[in-house]
Amino acid sequence: MSPRHFLRDDDLTPDEQSAVLDLADTFKADRFGHKPLAGPKAIAVIFEKNSTRTRLSFEVGIAQLGGNPVIIDGRSMQLGREETIEDTSRILSGYVDAVVWRTFAQARMDAMASVSRVPVVNALTDEFHPCQVLADLQTIRRRHGELAGLTLTYLGDGANNMSHSLLLGGATAGMNVRIGAPAGFVPNPTFLDDAKQRAAETGGSVELITDPRRAVDGADVLVTDTWTSMGQENDGKDRVGPFRPYQVNTALLESTGVDSTVLHCLPAHRGWEITDEVLDGPQSLVWDEAENRLHAQKALLVWLLENS
Ligand code: CP
Ligand code: NVA
Repeated sequence: MSPRHFLRDDDLTPDEQSAVLDLADTFKADRFGHKPLAGPKAIAVIFEKNSTRTRLSFEVGIAQLGGNPVIIDGRSMQLGREETIEDTSRILSGYVDAVVWRTFAQARMDAMASVSRVPVVNALTDEFHPCQVLADLQTIRRRHGELAGLTLTYLGDGANNMSHSLLLGGATAGMNVRIGAPAGFVPNPTFLDDAKQRAAETGGSVELITDPRRAVDGADVLVTDTWTSMGQENDGKDRVGPFRPYQVNTALLESTGVDSTVLHCLPAHRGWEITDEVLDGPQSLVWDEAENRLHAQKALLVWLLENS
């Protein structure tokens, strides 16, 4: 069988996504009782950008499953000098049973997967953050029940990895996904179209709404993220002014008119994209969301290995 990769959210069909979320709930209910990676299977987890949650949750999760996590700073590999991504991938396939990678352009992730004999998992690129969105969906499903039909509004930088992954992952789950973003920071039109197509199959919808009040009206879940993603620190754009109206604060949260919950993948820039009051308030699910990275990623790895 050829390896199943998870490079972007729509690499899982709606049924497959739902099966992974079910398994994630099983692992949440019993952290230590499942050892399908015993042997142990080795999994390389490689970082070319900083990480707290992703690194910890993969390392701890793989160990809980009986596997051997091999955590590597990508900048210290020959990949960081002149060895090609494809040659690196061929080498990794001879040692490990799966590769988890955080890197820059999605094209790099595609190159890694193109010659890999083992599953490749996207642990964040400039374009997508699909592992985060699996944890987000698990968190939402546990609080709100059935995902299909729920309305989720993402506010802020509509052109970043979280926006794109919520579009694709949310549409796969049959949700109504709204992106509330200013001009100049809207989703990549190709990914927006991909999400529309997926939504047409699942009964969900995707919408781009510039007015933040309209974007959040009736929304079950509000999601935000940093206005400056890793690698964008010196891109010459004003990454404050255009985003101010999209800050998730008490007034915006109240204006949904329903009992909404709030997610943020973290790290949060308190006082910028989200206020302390909301982040630390009763409607915030962010700490559960961060914990669920552990369960969702364990489920994903087991599912990919079982289906490869
Ligand atoms: N949310 C997230 O991916 O966090 P880290 O960058 O700390 O891994
Ligand atoms: N959009 C953020 C997510 C961090 C987990 C970034 O790419 O920096």
